[in-house]
Amino acid sequence: MRTKKKAIILFVLILQIQHGFPQSSVPHLQKVGDKTHLVVEGKPFIVLGGELGNSTFTSVEYMKPHWEKFKAMNLNTILAPVYWELIEPKEGQFNFELLDELISDVRENDMKLIILWFGSWKNSMSSHAPSWIKQNQAKYPRAIDERGVSQEILTPFSENNLQADLNAFKALMTHIKQIDNKQNTVIMVQPENEIGMLPSARDYHPLANSFFKNQVPDELMDYLQNNKENLVPEFLNIWKKNGYKTEGTWEEIFGQGYVTDEIFMAWYFAKFTEELTKAGKEIYPLPMFVNAALIRPGKIPGEYPSAGPLPHLMDIWKAAAPSIDMLSPDFYTPDFEYWNDLYVRQNNPLFIPEHRFDNTVGAKALFAIGHYEAIGFSPFSIEDNINMELAGAYDLIKQLYPLITENFGQNKIDGVLLDKEKIQTTVVLGSYEFSFQNSYTLGWEAGATEDIWDSGAAIIIQSDTTEFYIAGSGVVVTFKNWKNRNKIVGILNCEEGVFENGKWKVLRHLNGDQTHQGRHIRISHGDYSIQKVQLYEYE
Ligand code: DGJ
Repeated sequence: MRTKKKAIILFVLILQIQHGFPQSSVPHLQKVGDKTHLVVEGKPFIVLGGELGNSTFTSVEYMKPHWEKFKAMNLNTILAPVYWELIEPKEGQFNFELLDELISDVRENDMKLIILWFGSWKNSMSSHAPSWIKQNQAKYPRAIDERGVSQEILTPFSENNLQADLNAFKALMTHIKQIDNKQNTVIMVQPENEIGMLPSARDYHPLANSFFKNQVPDELMDYLQNNKENLVPEFLNIWKKNGYKTEGTWEEIFGQGYVTDEIFMAWYFAKFTEELTKAGKEIYPLPMFVNAALIRPGKIPGEYPSAGPLPHLMDIWKAAAPSIDMLSPDFYTPDFEYWNDLYVRQNNPLFIPEHRFDNTVGAKALFAIGHYEAIGFSPFSIEDNINMELAGAYDLIKQLYPLITENFGQNKIDGVLLDKEKIQTTVVLGSYEFSFQNSYTLGWEAGATEDIWDSGAAIIIQSDTTEFYIAGSGVVVTFKNWKNRNKIVGILNCEEGVFENGKWKVLRHLNGDQTHQGRHIRISHGDYSIQKVQLYEYE
C-alpha cells in the first residue's frame, strides 16, 4: 500500500517537473452544478472585460492613456489581439518583445489578459498574415469564390497554410507558458477571430473541390449517429430532410446548395482550428474559445461570414473541434437573449467576448452574469470612452463576487433584462415568483428618453429561504408565493448597502416612499445599487 502511495507521489512530481507547473494553477474551466465557471489562481473568476480596438495593442505608448479608463470602468480583464504579422515578421523568426511589454503593463495595472490570436483569419479575411505568407500564394494558397475570384482568405484545405499557422501559434503558446505560468496574467486564448467564408458559402479552390467530392468523414458521421438525440433541431432537420443517410458525399448526405456548402466549410474551418487548439493546449492548457459574427436578418450563407461557430453549426464545430471549450457570440445586432439562448445549448458555457460599446452594455453585463452565469462579458473598442453604465454594472458584480461564486450552478441566481419591448419579466427562486418591471413604466422617473429605456437590468441572488439580494438599475420588483397563492408576500425588511471586503454594510433602511409603503422594491435608472430584502407572508 505504502509503495503504491509513494509511486503515485513520485509520478505526480515527475509530471510537475516535466510540465513546469502544477496543473491546478493554470487557469481552467470547472463544472459546478449545471454551469461552468473559470478558475484563476485557484479561485472562481468572472471576466469583467473589455476588448481593445483592433490596432490599439500595437504599442505601449498608444496604450498608456487608456489604463485609467479601464480602471474607472472596473474592468478586471482586457481582451487584446496578438498579430501574426508582428510576432513572425520573417518566417521562423519570432519577436515577442511588444507582447512582453504589454503583459507587464497589464500586470502593473492589476488586470488579466485574454489573447485573441489574429492568425490565419480575422473577420473572414487573412489580413494579419505576415507578408511572407501573403506574397507567396503558390505555397500558401487562397480561397476562391464561386465566380473563380481569388480572395484574401487563406484556404483551410492547404497543409502548408495549416503548418505555418500552427508553427506560429505553438511559438506563441510556448512563450506565454514561459513568461506567465507562475503569474497567470493570461487567462484564456481565442484562436483566430470570427472565422467565416465570404463572399460565397464555400471555397472553390481545387483543393476544396476535391475534398467536397469526398465522402463525409466517418468521424462526423459517427458523431451524428451517436448524438442524434441531442443535435440542435435546425441541424437535425437538414439531415432528416435527406433521409438520415449515414454514408455518402456532402451533397448526398445534406443535399445540394448553400446549406451544404456551409456545413462542409464549417467542418474544415473547425478541423483547422482544432489542430491549433489541441497543439496549443498540449503546450499550455489555457481555456480556449472561438467567436462568431452573428447572422444579420434575412441573410443566406455566402451573404454573411458563413461556416463560423454559429448556433446552427454547433454540432459540426463540437464534433470537429473537441479541444475548443466554448463557442462565443459577438453582438452587433439586437436580440441579445435570443442568441444567448441558442449558444447555451449543448452545455456550451457562455462567454461574450464582444458587444457593441453602446448604452446597453451595463444592463447586458448584469443579465449575462445573473441569468446565464456567464464566464464573462466584454464590450468592443473599450478604449473609446468611459461608459458609466458599464462602470456601475461591473462595480455591482465585483461587490457581489463572493455571493455569486458561492451560489454558482445551484439555481439560486438569476438575471433580468428590460427594455422598451420587454417591460416586464418574471423570475422564480425558491418559493417566490418575482415580477420585474422597467422602472420607467411607473411614470415617476424623469429622463425616459428613447435610448435609455434599454438599460433596466438586475441580478437577483437567494441567500436564504426568505432573503434575497437584488442588484441593478431601472427595475421595480413585486413578489408572490407561487407554491401557495393564498399567501400574500410582503417586505419585512429592506436595506440598501454595499459589500466592503465581502461584508454587507447597510447604507439606508428603505421603507416609506422608497418601497412604495411596502408594495415593491425599486432601483431607479441611473442608480446602480444593491438592496437586501427579507420577505414575509400573511394570509
Ligand atoms: C467583430 C470583430 O471580431 C472585431 O475584431 C471588430 O472587427 C468588430 N467586429 C467591428 O469593428
